Parts: sequence; structure tokens; C-alpha cells
Amino acid sequence: MSLQGRVTQEFERRFGGPPTFVVRAPGRVNLIGEHTDYNDGFVLPMAIDRAIWIAMRPRGDQRVVGHSLDFEQPVEFSVEEVEQVSVSEATPAWGEYLRGVAWALQEAGHTLQGWEGVVASDVPIGASLSSSAALEMATARVFAVTSGLQWDATSMARIGQRAENEWVGVNCGIMDQMISAAGKADHALLIDCRSLEAQPVPLPPGTAVVVLDTATRRGLVDSAYNERRRECATAARHFGVAALRDVSVEQIETGSSGLAAVGRRRARHVVTENDRTRQAAEAMCAGDAVKMGQLMNASHASLRDDFEVSSEALDAMVECARQVDSCYGARMTGAGFGGCAVALIRATDAESFAINVADSYQAATSIRPEVHACRAAGGATLLSAAADRPF
Ligand code: GLA
Repeated sequence: MSLQGRVTQEFERRFGGPPTFVVRAPGRVNLIGEHTDYNDGFVLPMAIDRAIWIAMRPRGDQRVVGHSLDFEQPVEFSVEEVEQVSVSEATPAWGEYLRGVAWALQEAGHTLQGWEGVVASDVPIGASLSSSAALEMATARVFAVTSGLQWDATSMARIGQRAENEWVGVNCGIMDQMISAAGKADHALLIDCRSLEAQPVPLPPGTAVVVLDTATRRGLVDSAYNERRRECATAARHFGVAALRDVSVEQIETGSSGLAAVGRRRARHVVTENDRTRQAAEAMCAGDAVKMGQLMNASHASLRDDFEVSSEALDAMVECARQVDSCYGARMTGAGFGGCAVALIRATDAESFAINVADSYQAATSIRPEVHACRAAGGATLLSAAADRPF
């Protein structure tokens, strides 16, 4: 049964009646433009056909009553008294994302109405496919319908980011929430993380995007991530600019004296990655899969050598993918240190590619990975539960 069917059925069993709406918010894979969003730079992610689903019904009061099919923890709170329950834990309880979004929406001046709902997801957790952003955007979509708020993808992405930064305590940029809110079917989005303008970019004809899960998860990603953010901020200060977005490759070459070698490498990654990302959007629009693949390969090298956020497993996966003829290019995706890589391949060879890479990665690392082609999906949607179609 589909996840949509499961949340609907479970809703009826628990709440004694059909849900009014079903909400879907996708995870994402970033094709290129990594660790650039918090430097006001460019990213090129696509929403994927893996998502969080919530079957829900508005309540007449301010309470939120949630049940997750993936976790055995129920969530119940009143939006009038949102309190942090487990923010100090390494992995926050799923309910903190609901509370955090309720808090951020109210901080933005919205008055909220309660709801009851059943949640399920097929976005793997900790795999760098943005399960948290998907849950935040699904929650925002639910509150928008129960509370009569206009759904504006960009403002809602900012709300989700604020919940993640200030409630959950992860200092992420805006990419994941933006793509989960604003994704477009069959397209990636070139997002300017300064203006938040987003331009749909079609996938090159005859190609497929494959997600390659190394099946490794690394702890302490958040502290390494925050360290990178600090290093980038220090480098921006060195160049006297608001963000590394404003630095050119020439400035890195000529103006780096006085900047520590590590800061120079971090800055070089961000500046060259912004260039690659804009070139990648052009290559995709021109249907140039070969060029796109080369840019993805160069992005991986820069993340590995200059930004130092890859891992042995990610490097091994990328190598295995590139050895297959039908692969145009491959790189790590997301924050790094574990989780997934992404490859652009010839669509007709998707099945043999998956088998081939899974076998060679297992032979190299003794770990069985998960490899699957994915479609570019639309962003967070509200479906009328009765009609099964966008509302
Ligand atoms: C995580 C963050 C994003 C972005 C990426 C790295 O996914 O949530 O904001 O910084 O890492 O590109």
C-alpha cells in the first residue's frame, strides 16, 4: 500500500473518521552547489519522489495530536504553550519539528489552529536527503490549511529554517526547506540563496538521477558543519565582504595572504562551487549531460580536498559509480561525512547501473548500499483526502 494509503487508513482507525486533507512534502537530492547556501551562494537541488505524508483533520481547539507510523512516540501539545521537550538530545524527537514550526509561525505573527494527524515517511533519516526539512515543510503546510495562512513557499521555507536553527538547534542554510517547499516536477531548481529567486532547470533529456546511499551515518556532523560555517564567516571577514558569494576566484589567488591555509581552501571551495553551479544550470538547460557530469566530478574533488567534508565511504561510492560507462558524473550530496552520493547517468541503463555499483561498492567496503533512481518531484502539496488530488 502507498504511504498515502497507509496514513489515511491509520488516521481512520485512530481518529474514527476520514482525514480532511493529506499533505505531502518531499526530501531532496542536491545535484551541485554544496555548502554554498549559507554563503549566500547558488544551489541546484531537486525534490525527489520520497516524502513525508500527513493525513490530518483540523480541530476546533489549539491542540496538535500527532501519531507517527515510523516512531512509537506520540506527540501532543497546545500551540498556546509550545515548550521544548528534548532539544538537548543528540537526535531530537520528531515532535520537536512540529513544535518548532508552530513556534516559528507564531513568532512570525500567525495565529494557529490545532489539528490531529498521522505521519509516515520514506525519506531515510540521516542520509543527507533532508528528512527534517520535509517534516518541517509538511507541518507548515498542515498549519497553513488549519489556520487559513497563505501558502508562500519562500516565506514558509524561512519559517522551517528558523525552526531548525533556533528550535531544533541545527544551524542549517535555506536550501533544504526551499526545495521541499518549492520543488517542481521533472526539474531541479537553481536557487540564489541571497535573493531566494528560484529558476526551474530541466534534467538533460535521456538522463536519470541516481541516489547512492553509502549506508554509513556519521555522528557529530552538526559540530563539523558549524565549524565550516565559522571558517567561511572568518574568510568572508578577511576579504571584507558580507559573504563568500562576493569573492572572485582571482581574489582568492591574489588576496589570501594573512588568511590561514585552511580558510583559503574553504573559501576556494565555495567560490569555485558557485561558478560550477551556475555553469551546471546552463549545461542542463543546453541538454549537455557530459558537461554536467564533469562539473559534478569537480564538485566532489573540491568537497573532498578543499572543504574536507567527504568520507572514505563517499569517495568509494563515487569511484564505483564513475567506473560504470553509463555514468556522466558523481559526487557526494548534502552536508557530507556519510549518507548519500548522487550520480547522473544514461536513463536506459538505470537498472544495470544500480546492480553494478551496489556490487562493486560492497566488494570495496563490505557494506551493502542502497541505490535507486529517483524522479524530480513537486514541492509540498495539499491534497483533498476525498478527491485524492491537489487541493
Ligand atoms: C545541509 C544543510 C543545507 C546545506 C547542506 C550543504 O543539508 O541543511 O542548508 O548547507 O547541508 O550544502
